[in-house]
Amino acid sequence: MATNHEILGRNEVDDLEAILAITNSDVDEVQHLVQSNGDAIFTWDYDRSRPALGKLYERAKKSQWNAQTDLPWDTDVDQEHVVLENALANNMTFGSELDTKGTPFEKWGDAEWLAFGVQSQNWTLSQFLHGEQGALICTAKVVETVPWIDAKYYAATQVMDEARHVEVFSRYLDTKLEGHYPVNPALQLLIDDIIGDSRWDMTYMGMQIMVEGLALAAFGFMHQVTEEPLLKKLLRYVMADEARHVAFGVLSLQEYYAGLGAAELRERQEFAFEAALRMRDRLMMHRVWETMGVDRRTVTEFLLGVRRMRNNPFQAALFSKIVPNCKKLGLLDAGDGWLRQKFGELGVLEYEDWEDTGAEYERMQLEQKAAG
Ligand SMILES: [Fe+2]
Ligand SMILES: [Fe+2]
Repeated sequence: MATNHEILGRNEVDDLEAILAITNSDVDEVQHLVQSNGDAIFTWDYDRSRPALGKLYERAKKSQWNAQTDLPWDTDVDQEHVVLENALANNMTFGSELDTKGTPFEKWGDAEWLAFGVQSQNWTLSQFLHGEQGALICTAKVVETVPWIDAKYYAATQVMDEARHVEVFSRYLDTKLEGHYPVNPALQLLIDDIIGDSRWDMTYMGMQIMVEGLALAAFGFMHQVTEEPLLKKLLRYVMADEARHVAFGVLSLQEYYAGLGAAELRERQEFAFEAALRMRDRLMMHRVWETMGVDRRTVTEFLLGVRRMRNNPFQAALFSKIVPNCKKLGLLDAGDGWLRQKFGELGVLEYEDWEDTGAEYERMQLEQKAAG
């Protein structure tokens, strides 16, 4: 039975010092090396015995798009203008929904919130870019380590999808925005853990379910909010791929988990909990605040406070996907319901009956069909 300390390196999930201690030391290096564990598995069983995966593979082949020719790259992007337009169109007033009394942003005016809007977009798209590279590497690993031929076929199409996603976000950042951010340390820590784990299903759980589940929610939110036509179209294309990826994860893991015992399922629950917390830490975007002249400690204290509010937007974005997906996989209530208890302590069980990503994918398919 692992403790919080063993899973997260801290006893209290909101331990301020421990959260501040997570930093990445090699942001100035061109490369980051991770030990990849796990056996490359050959299978001599070429039988197409998993028709649902086969169907997904056929769909993936038909849904390929070309990042260079299918998107309107000649669109002019004026970032400040876009931030203002988005705010206007969505009726958002910066900072107004939070109680900023006694904080460094209490005195922020429109100019500061505008600058923050630009920086946070640079940061968010940078994390999309780095996360997509994580997905590229993880999916290449899945091709090697998954024992089923149908899953190897499908995963190979996903490698192509992820390469295209890295390509589009990289081009968008390079040619339309000003300023990149390095990978967030909590995200890097999670991806390193996923790659380092030798069990093939943990790559799926970490990447296909947790990271991609959150990415889909984040892309969906930005797609809804942005008035910038190139980014809107780019996100719509990427989301169609991502929904398929999560569906691939859910299909594969449902089958695999059905054959696992209580102790093995408990390890999966602990990993889901770890991944959820890493992603929650990531949402604090420390570097953006530092760029804005607000120190990490102050903003972390503030956000930990906000997090305890009910219905806070940071929490909703993350857990409204993760909790239903864990439930769909049977992890929420497996064994003695350990994960239900942990998510209960975080106050996020209200999302358990929200739409899971598998159902969302089916719905998106139907909507696409209806739209012709
Ligand atoms: Fe992707
Ligand atoms: Fe993906």
